[in-house]
Amino acid sequence: MSSDKKLDVNTDFVKKYKAALAAGLSKEQLAGFMGVKPDTILNRRKVIADTMGFVLPYLKGSPKKSEADLMKVFSAELAELNKNENKDLHDASENEGDEWSKHDVYLITSAQNCTPVHEKFLLACETYCKINKARLLVIPYRYKNPTSIFQDSENEWWDNRIVPYLMEDRVKIFKHLQILGHIKKQPTAIQPLYGLDGETGLDSAVMGHPKIQLKAVATPSQALPKILTSSGAITVPNYTDSGAGWRGYDHHSFGAVVVELDRENEIFHLRHIHGDKETGSFYDLDRYYTPKTSSDSPRIPALITGDSHALFMDPDVEKATYTAHDSIVNILKPENLVLHDVMDGYSISHHHKNNDVVRQGKHRYGMNNVEKELQITADFIDRISLDHMMTYIVKSNHDEHFDKWLQECDYKNDLENAQFFHYMKYNQSKWLTPKEGSKPGFKTIDPFEFWCNHPDTQRGLQKKERVKVLKRDESLVLKSIELGFHGDKGTGGSRGSLKQFSKVGPKVVIGHSHTPGIYEGAYQVGVSSYMDLEYKTGCDSWLQTHCVVYPDGKRTLINVIRGKWRLKEVRW
Ligand SMILES: [Fe+2]
Ligand SMILES: [Fe+2]
Repeated sequence: MSSDKKLDVNTDFVKKYKAALAAGLSKEQLAGFMGVKPDTILNRRKVIADTMGFVLPYLKGSPKKSEADLMKVFSAELAELNKNENKDLHDASENEGDEWSKHDVYLITSAQNCTPVHEKFLLACETYCKINKARLLVIPYRYKNPTSIFQDSENEWWDNRIVPYLMEDRVKIFKHLQILGHIKKQPTAIQPLYGLDGETGLDSAVMGHPKIQLKAVATPSQALPKILTSSGAITVPNYTDSGAGWRGYDHHSFGAVVVELDRENEIFHLRHIHGDKETGSFYDLDRYYTPKTSSDSPRIPALITGDSHALFMDPDVEKATYTAHDSIVNILKPENLVLHDVMDGYSISHHHKNNDVVRQGKHRYGMNNVEKELQITADFIDRISLDHMMTYIVKSNHDEHFDKWLQECDYKNDLENAQFFHYMKYNQSKWLTPKEGSKPGFKTIDPFEFWCNHPDTQRGLQKKERVKVLKRDESLVLKSIELGFHGDKGTGGSRGSLKQFSKVGPKVVIGHSHTPGIYEGAYQVGVSSYMDLEYKTGCDSWLQTHCVVYPDGKRTLINVIRGKWRLKEVRW
């Protein structure tokens, strides 16, 4: 069952369960209504606790009332819940003069009931809003009693400081962008975005939650996928002394989502900011915001770009990321640049082995020469590598197409590359040695690295001293974040995934899926090439997305949308 369908099923179950609680049904009566066994009710109650983060109270029943009366009340409660759920979405996306058309920049965070605000973070957010003409929105959420259908006025208050910013509505503030102020999920929910896929149609959405997650979801009729993300919180951690409470505490982030609306180009940008837990201060792109002021930020320690696939690099992304005067690299001045899947390997891809049409096409149109592709890749690296910056090539599955070709090629059937094949095989053989110490096995040259330095008939790589080719899974740690994994290989030989890498221990930034995401300590970049590569099938969640590591070790994902990565400066 797809996650969307699971969500619908769970949401529907919770609704019926709440109506049953209000009406006083027993679990047997609810089971009868739903046509399932009473044990199924208990099992699904457990599933809700595991996936949605809240525990539904037990159904005790009301023995004094007749079943007919109970069912009447149950039906009325259910109808009311359905009515509330379908309340109208306020669509401000095309209303000029609407209050939502007054600002182009929003800072969206969330706050817990009965909990003090992080005063310094709030002040820094207010500094940000003043300087950027931004509007601060705080989505309130509740802890402990999210399933109550009764008013709990004692616990229905929020810190006075944020009351002017509270936003409880569901508003479509821009074409294809909603703010889900009406959703209140338990702050201990393991997956706050769970169930939202089907909630917003084609629209991207920001919801309020202290745990920051982000995912891209394919939308069939659009060129771009939609982004769903949670905001982080502006209130201090306030959790019960329980397993779920401690988990919630661990993942509580002082954070917010910056939303920039580019009305002229009909696109929007969104990215996270993370307040320091002591000072409340935070970085956003090239500025540092404190409770009192803002200043230029120093160079960022690292930029991890979406998979390059140099042969198919999107020139708009290259411009926005590296070469334009206001590119990401020129504005943020990274000390280190980390590249994934830098070589596509199209010229010698093993995926084409049995595809005579593609092989013929590559032969006819001159795309089957591996040296040419290596030089295109090296030229790309030379173009984007700067004097003041170190460039790292993370060993990736597409780079390894070259390794695999050397291992499997029958040169008699690849005359285009036969001479070069022998050149590389000779050197692989020449430099073959046992591994150091008592390690079993043998080692030899890394083919790509060797070619960069000893290119035979081509130019090779020029800026060798500023480029380091990492070995497979060679560690590259910057600001306590592991940047050396590509993301294709998981633990124990399994396929890698964002969720799996969130469990490896250190924080990581990976690539490979071409789909941006944030899951606990793991961030995933998207792609830098064209988004319609040959092996992309059907509708997909690919996006041209990079990851920035700030001087305080916090990260944010930056999307390049139609060649743009931020709104032009709007500061006062
Ligand atoms: Fe890739
Ligand atoms: Fe990859």
